[in-house]
Amino acid sequence: MIILTVVGARPNFMKAAPIIAAINERNERIPANGAGRGERSPETIRHIFVHTGQHYDEFMSGSFFTDLELPKPDIHLGVGSGSHAVQTAEIVKKFEAVLLTEKPDVVVVVGDVNSTLACALVTAKICFDSAGSRPVIAHVEAGLRSFDRSMPEEINRILTDHVSDLLFVTEESGLQNLQNEGISPDKIHFVGNTMIDSLLAFKEKAEASTVLDKLKLRLNARGNGGGKSICRYALLTLHRPSNVDNRSAFLNILDGLEDLAADCPIVFPIHPRTRRRVQEFGLQSQLGLNEVEVKPNLAMSGEGLRNIILTEPLGYLDFLCLMKHAALVVTDSGGIQEETTCLGIPCVTVRESTERPITIESGTNVLAGTQKEKIRQAVRRQMATKYCNERAPEKWDGQAARRILDVLIRTQLAKTSSQQSLILQACV
Ligand code: UD1
Repeated sequence: MIILTVVGARPNFMKAAPIIAAINERNERIPANGAGRGERSPETIRHIFVHTGQHYDEFMSGSFFTDLELPKPDIHLGVGSGSHAVQTAEIVKKFEAVLLTEKPDVVVVVGDVNSTLACALVTAKICFDSAGSRPVIAHVEAGLRSFDRSMPEEINRILTDHVSDLLFVTEESGLQNLQNEGISPDKIHFVGNTMIDSLLAFKEKAEASTVLDKLKLRLNARGNGGGKSICRYALLTLHRPSNVDNRSAFLNILDGLEDLAADCPIVFPIHPRTRRRVQEFGLQSQLGLNEVEVKPNLAMSGEGLRNIILTEPLGYLDFLCLMKHAALVVTDSGGIQEETTCLGIPCVTVRESTERPITIESGTNVLAGTQKEKIRQAVRRQMATKYCNERAPEKWDGQAARRILDVLIRTQLAKTSSQQSLILQACV
């Protein structure tokens, strides 16, 4: 059996890593019976790892491979940045050639980025032979809906789900959404969350990160006493086009964070899109910057939000360490809402909608919207609340990737046996 897994952008890496680990783990358990020296058992899964190159630099991609112990991709499409159309089209063109050469049995796509949709679309239309055979398309993190079609990710989610053969769902809302859209229940599998598999696998390792020392967030490092205590700080990420591509929207969010910045330092690992906008819109002073350039690892000391610690985008383990010890996380990311839920860390989501309602129902997340007063209120409320992580969402237990692999293998076995019975019938 050949499984091909696609990754492209930052949030894909932690969702795909546990699936690759589960494949390796399973291969290691297979006895070499029947196979000769150096030969593979017929049960061994051959895995092909494809990186589209949607994200390509060390901060957005490279460091994640090291942190998540991911193998080097077998195939790198090197598509890079571009408009949605150009980026998607480049992936489509290059991925078709990969499929025709490798002819996998299953293509696994994860999440909701342009690479997810592009590769699912190619797989849905490929024909390996005159019988029209093609790989099974497995979508990991299916069924999430923000019901906001102005988000590129929402379009990617809907289209990917509707061309997929196996839909792996992370939370109950996904089951309901897919059912409402008329997707056949036998395609849908509620397996849990592979992003949480990664979080649980790497949570302890993240403690060895030196990021708190580097950012001077240890009390002793700040000269406030000898112990190893950690400063009270908040963590901020912002990169949604709707939040940062418009000057007044971006400014409004920064204004909403003024009280928080007065209360404690805010660590802000800045996404390349956001960084560009800060310079383009001349928002340096609102971030407390004196510099025209947004320099890496620069502690702030200028006007405006004085207490912001700006950094480059961080690697997986550094970011996980910062999330674990934060008093509050403010974000417009999807995955961070889930990670903070699992860690029991209060989160304020600066968006009008979330495709992950479980993080609000049973988690620590609050949807604040994007108006400054609402953000201020949500921050105040969350900073005053004490949480404990007593109710992890159903199946967020570190086993999602193993469940997915079981379904993939069962599906392949069923496909092979139905092909064999067709051959037998033809021979009779
Ligand atoms: C993409 C995903 C989004 C995800 C986000 C995580 C889509 C539609 N969006 O958005 O869902 O939350 O990734 O980051 O797929 N750039 C670099 N280095 C890189 C990659 C990008 O500097 O390695 C710059 C490029 O100039 C690019 C910009 O960042 O124009 C944005 O990257 P892009 O891949 O277009 O979208 P994201 O906003 O990152």
